[in-house]
Amino acid sequence: MTRRRVAVLVSGRGSNLQALLDAAAAPDYPAEIALVISNVADVQALERAARAKVRTEVLSHRGFKDREAFERVLSERLEEAGIKLVCQAGFMRILTPWFVARWHNRLINIHPSLLPAFPGLDTHARALAAGVKLHGCSVHFVRAEVDSGPIIGQAAVPVLAEDSPNTLAARVLQAEHQLYPHCLRLLLDGAVRLEGERVVPDISQAEECILISPAFPRRLPSA
Ligand code: GRF
Repeated sequence: MTRRRVAVLVSGRGSNLQALLDAAAAPDYPAEIALVISNVADVQALERAARAKVRTEVLSHRGFKDREAFERVLSERLEEAGIKLVCQAGFMRILTPWFVARWHNRLINIHPSLLPAFPGLDTHARALAAGVKLHGCSVHFVRAEVDSGPIIGQAAVPVLAEDSPNTLAARVLQAEHQLYPHCLRLLLDGAVRLEGERVVPDISQAEECILISPAFPRRLPSA
């Protein structure tokens, strides 16, 4: 099996990077995390990559004349390293249409909401304010419009009455750590494919996968 060379773009904590590194440690995983690039120095994500003996680079966006100038260097670094697919994992830069076109269908992202609900920032607080009962995360191909693009997979979690943005974020993050390596595998195994701007699975899907929130009461309250 040839493992595809994947790069991960990060800016901070890197817990999703860790999930990808852990998955890629299995010999039958179809990706090799070959490069981790951070636009911020001294972040936890870089320590995680170093611990896994993965090559790291810091490429600060500061000092470039505009976004595209930064991205041209970023793209060169990825190409020089023979990268086939790029995963954004907490990379806090909005990418220009130039970069998105350059890596068309070779650039994916994880977003902490069930898209197309709640694109952008503060997704957990917004989900609580909206009163949704299910929330979650999405892995999607990146397109020029922020947090748009064909959805590869989603994971849902219940929203509990007593949740704060932090407790909800923690529940979603656990789901992210399962979803991202799963979606990357589906993609590289050819178990999903793009049909126009929709991702369709080539695998049988579990129809019984229904999550109801709030759950049915175990016992009906006595009258
Ligand atoms: C995650 O919630 C991810 O969905 C969002 O940024 C956060 C990154 O967390 N894009 P981490 O750096 O992977 O821990």
